[in-house]
Amino acid sequence: LIARAFRHQFVVPDFLGFTKDIEEIYWKCKSNTDGKVASYIPQLARVNPDYWGVSVCTIDGQRFSIGDVHVPFTLQSCSKPLTYAVALECLSQKVVHQYVGQEPSGRNFNELVLDHNKQPHNPMINAGAILVCSLLQTLVHSEMTLAEKFDFTQNWFQRMAGGENFGFNNSIFLSEREAADRNYALGFYMREHKVFPEKTNLRECLDFYFQICSMETTADSMSVVAATLANGGICPITEEKVFRPDVVRDVLSLMHSCGMYDYSGQFAFNVGLPAKSGVCGGILLVVPNVAGIFTWSPPLDPCGNSVRGVQFCKELLQVFNFHRY
Ligand code: DON
Repeated sequence: LIARAFRHQFVVPDFLGFTKDIEEIYWKCKSNTDGKVASYIPQLARVNPDYWGVSVCTIDGQRFSIGDVHVPFTLQSCSKPLTYAVALECLSQKVVHQYVGQEPSGRNFNELVLDHNKQPHNPMINAGAILVCSLLQTLVHSEMTLAEKFDFTQNWFQRMAGGENFGFNNSIFLSEREAADRNYALGFYMREHKVFPEKTNLRECLDFYFQICSMETTADSMSVVAATLANGGICPITEEKVFRPDVVRDVLSLMHSCGMYDYSGQFAFNVGLPAKSGVCGGILLVVPNVAGIFTWSPPLDPCGNSVRGVQFCKELLQVFNFHRY
């Protein structure tokens, strides 16, 4: 980082100017009090709706954060591109996509629906993410104990985040599991259609899915994850090669087309960047070859995306020409 600074070789040469604009957008969005926090479990319903944090990490490791960026929250669906990336890296695109498609479902993220092959539409919705969990469990960690499977995934997430910590929220995990009728229904529906690899233990697979949703981190750390994806799979903080470039291409392609629930098409049109949101109120936003951004604000719009987060992305595009096209 220091050598680059001396050579004036930063990807965002005027980082201070860049962060001034980010800060301005941050304050503009702060006054937006629309939306409702997720209420399907009490632990999420209790979250303070005023939390609002934005973190940026460039592909050369320059960092900026504003607001509630050190308050932990559970990953929820922001974990979906991460687990998908681990599966691609460990198993290859060919194997993973024998089981799951690449098409937006056009339906809710937890809808009881499979595609024309009777497979989940894509790995960014619940059905697809549960399927990816079963691939990790049966094909990648078949010899591991349940505890080792958890450690394995947590370790991958930490490498994406440059070694920063990922915790686990046990009460959210227990609540998720209690309130999981729909996810169980999805699991049984997929099992009926023989979607899972042989030897899948459905209960263990769903538990693993809830555990991953209940992993806890901060906006600050998630911006490093986004930056690793923006940087072709090399973590800008540790310079470790976490993913092959083809893995990152696949992950970003599906974030682009399927990452923002039933708003994905409009988001791809208006913002034109790969992103993934979760009911925690997080949005993982990737500006390829420039930076990773993470926004966190719990109140959600009717599609399930963070209200302030979506506004932030739109305002960002008013100021910077980041749209891919
Ligand atoms: O499966 C669920 O209902 C949650 N634990 C995850 C929800 C989430 O963020 C939805 N996303 N696609």
